[in-house]
Amino acid sequence: MFSELTEQLRARDQQGLRRVRQVLEGPQAAHITIDDREYLAFSSNDYLGLANHPELIQSVCEGAQQYGVGAGASHLINGHSSAHHRLEEALADFTGFPKALLFSTGYMANIGVVTALVGREDAIFADKLNHASLNDAALLSRAKFIRFPHLDFTALEQRLAASTARRKLVIIDAVFSMEGDRAPIRQVVALCEKYQAWLLLDDAHGFGVLGQQGRGSLFLPDSPAGHSPHVVYMATLGKAAGVFGAFVAAQPEIIETLIQTARSYIYTTATPPLLSHALLVSLKKIEQDEWRRERLTQHIQQLREGLRSSPWKLLPSDTPIQPLLIGASDEAVRISQALREQGILVPAIRPPTVPQGTARLRISLSAAHQPQDIVRLMQALHQLASLS
Ligand SMILES: Cc1ncc(COP(=O)(O)O)c(C=O)c1O
Repeated sequence: MFSELTEQLRARDQQGLRRVRQVLEGPQAAHITIDDREYLAFSSNDYLGLANHPELIQSVCEGAQQYGVGAGASHLINGHSSAHHRLEEALADFTGFPKALLFSTGYMANIGVVTALVGREDAIFADKLNHASLNDAALLSRAKFIRFPHLDFTALEQRLAASTARRKLVIIDAVFSMEGDRAPIRQVVALCEKYQAWLLLDDAHGFGVLGQQGRGSLFLPDSPAGHSPHVVYMATLGKAAGVFGAFVAAQPEIIETLIQTARSYIYTTATPPLLSHALLVSLKKIEQDEWRRERLTQHIQQLREGLRSSPWKLLPSDTPIQPLLIGASDEAVRISQALREQGILVPAIRPPTVPQGTARLRISLSAAHQPQDIVRLMQALHQLASLS
């Protein structure tokens, strides 16, 4: 048994696919410390720079005083505290849905929603570049899993029209995590309404960042139809919100169905209430600190303008995820490594996470960055390009 595993691991090494964890000292921030060396990091999802905010740290301490450290039980036994409950009400209100439900992680939320809503006689329609958690959820549900090419809504419509499934569920990222591009929500919702399908919209990377006051992708000017009763909205709380967890917001019948039947909700300990206590503060900061989103917009513009002359092109994206297309996997790894030697962290993303031949550097921007940080990254990239 062991020699088989060793062999598999060696094969990974040979293909350059072995992943290594880096041990971070201290908090997530624009400048982080690994192995006693400081790095300028473009590698977190802490888009608003809240993960290390003093007010959030303070609220975690208060939350611990008030609620203790652990929830001690699952939500349906007696782990559902007033902090969880208040946060759910605040999230429903903030995202414009009648009800919201907290999950421990976005991964678990996607598993819970999909497996609670569809089963063997049903069909799931999924964009090919969706997040892994949506794919895993689809497989676990045992529904027919039908994928369509990235953002190809003609293909989606053909598949919806041809389906005789009892229930139909379309699942899609609102912002694609490795591309940074966005799903045209109005168009997807219209298709779901036309073919009587549910829509699970994963806004892990839009919540807090996009839309009026950071209320998410459904509040972008081009998505007015987003609050259709067909929509089940999912967002995470460990990215822009800076803390941990996730939530689903939807019509009351859906939320009640999740409470009764979503196994990744029922059979797990509730998250520490102190996190919900801190998330209430985070939600206020998301709503009020418009300057964080303005700064992000400036960083995005600065980077896109600055890299226009580079031989490596940024994929089209108006979100903080700015992937720089390199092509070959070994070249992407080499550039990432060269940046690292200069004290700059930008992860190389390779197949199978992204399609063959589209290895890239996933530059992720944060309000915690300063304009000079972006300049430093651009100068390093230009210099590396001139040497290539
Ligand atoms: C699009 C998308 N959905 C879901 C998740 C899972 O969220 P979590 O990290 O809270 O499990 C992620 C990232 O982790 C993601 O990028």
